[in-house]
Amino acid sequence: MEFLDELQRRRTFGIISHPDAGKTTLTEKLLLFGGAIQEAGAVKSNKIKKGATSDFMEIERQRGISVATSVLAFIYKDKKINILDTPGHKDFAEDTFRTLTAVDSVIVVIDVAKGVEAQTEKLVEVCRMRNIPIIVFINKLDREGKDAFDLLDEVEQKLGLKVTPLSFPIGMGYDFKGIYNIWGKKLNLFSEENKQTISEGVEFSDLDDPELDRIVGEDAAETLREELELVYEVYPKFDKEEYLNGALQPVFFGSALNNFGVKELLDCFTEIAPTPQPKMSEERLVDSKEDKLTGFVFKIHANMDPKHRDRLAFVKIVSGTFKRNAPYLHVRNGKKMKFSSPNAFFAEKKEIVEESFPGDIVGLHDTGNFKIGDTLTEGENLNFKGIPSFSPEHFRYVNNADPMKSKQLQKGLIQLMDEGVAQLFTLEMNGRKVIGTVGALQYEVIQYRLEHEYGAKCTYENLPMHKVCWVDPEDAKNDEYKDFKRTKQRYLAKDKQGQLVFFADSAFTIQMTQSKYPSVKLHFTSEFK
Ligand code: G4P
Repeated sequence: MEFLDELQRRRTFGIISHPDAGKTTLTEKLLLFGGAIQEAGAVKSNKIKKGATSDFMEIERQRGISVATSVLAFIYKDKKINILDTPGHKDFAEDTFRTLTAVDSVIVVIDVAKGVEAQTEKLVEVCRMRNIPIIVFINKLDREGKDAFDLLDEVEQKLGLKVTPLSFPIGMGYDFKGIYNIWGKKLNLFSEENKQTISEGVEFSDLDDPELDRIVGEDAAETLREELELVYEVYPKFDKEEYLNGALQPVFFGSALNNFGVKELLDCFTEIAPTPQPKMSEERLVDSKEDKLTGFVFKIHANMDPKHRDRLAFVKIVSGTFKRNAPYLHVRNGKKMKFSSPNAFFAEKKEIVEESFPGDIVGLHDTGNFKIGDTLTEGENLNFKGIPSFSPEHFRYVNNADPMKSKQLQKGLIQLMDEGVAQLFTLEMNGRKVIGTVGALQYEVIQYRLEHEYGAKCTYENLPMHKVCWVDPEDAKNDEYKDFKRTKQRYLAKDKQGQLVFFADSAFTIQMTQSKYPSVKLHFTSEFK
């Protein structure tokens, strides 16, 4: 197949949701459609189970599972679909944020009873900042939940989206009768029996057809007609361009567990979802159709086996064809590298591939050469943008607990930070190291892995801070900046890239500081230029 055909076939996306909304179940059903797995239950949940938050053995076990489910690929209607896993657990939000830099679109799963939840809000905000095309899937229609119109309102208001339903439920919970697929003009009836099979809907281009009354009953048919009329009146007509620009979000209803409404979602997705998109680098915009290879590392996964400190770097291919054993430039360290066993991912397996195309993810075995954000090219000096660090919310000093192993500790800390497990800051005043994380869970992961993978021991000391802000002195008035640095000396540190950050103990401090030094800009992410 020609390069451009391969490119056009690819759809690379992430499913995001608040934990328990049904992300794993939906993923599994999508794989079932692709024929990539044979039965339900084959995709293991990689979420941290409830109650296991302080058990690091469990974390390690889960880490092992999640490497297998990091990328799930399948073929559907000749499209190669790559699903990138995004952990729902809030302590791993940063991992999810980074994965979102490698997707071309997302599907947001919302629980019909719970509506829009906190984690969904955060993740969608990141997608909106990047104008990522979003499809919304409202799940668990077999259960009693909120009214469909109320939910659409909630999605618009809480997530700041402009929605248009492309399917609409007939009843809900006990009275759930089916779904009218606005996109395909088809009626799909729900029956408990069709849980595992894939039923074709009945075509209904004319809703006034009395056949509808016969099938769903007069009352339900009447309600559906009225509701659809309202839908057509209130919501904008679907427009693919607007969806692709992140300005309009189609909504589907269904029940992932019952495999209901999933095929409609997938059929529409394969038709409208974007092919691999161009990506901005610091130097220029790289088009996916360019024939020279470019790609970037968005995730690094350490091996579970402490005897082999082997890691897997996940590279999203932006342009060109990735070839096994071809020399590529690792731009940051200026070295040419060859990869003899690049992994591709298919369903829940990984296998060695000869070639990969834009949109694909390749897993490269790494012994410590890669950092998150690194770029590979055929020789051009390019650095992809867009893997920002977000302000952590937990901070602890890290102390060496074994003076004989200080080198190991340094090395371990640097490598774990390269993997993006947490962020390391060095205080300007005394050189002490502070680890910042999104959730408390990571401290245990770090301590455990330092000991088991690097033979180093550490202890922590709490640092009661609210957030770090990245300091942007570009437009700062000279005197103001000097004064800021002098008075805030104790709270200034450098991040791993050497950027200046300010530790704030409260939101109020940030506000006060900003009003005292208005020309010194403070940001909650490291990417502000
Ligand atoms: P997550 O990955 O977003 O965290 O959610 P997951 O798919 O694990 O689903 C969370 C729970 O919701 C699971 O139940 C799952 O079976 C259920 N679920 C998913 N889709 C539907 C649906 O359409 N209808 C109904 N009624 N339930 C649904 P669980 O009891 O927590 O787990 P399990 O023991 O079934 O695995």
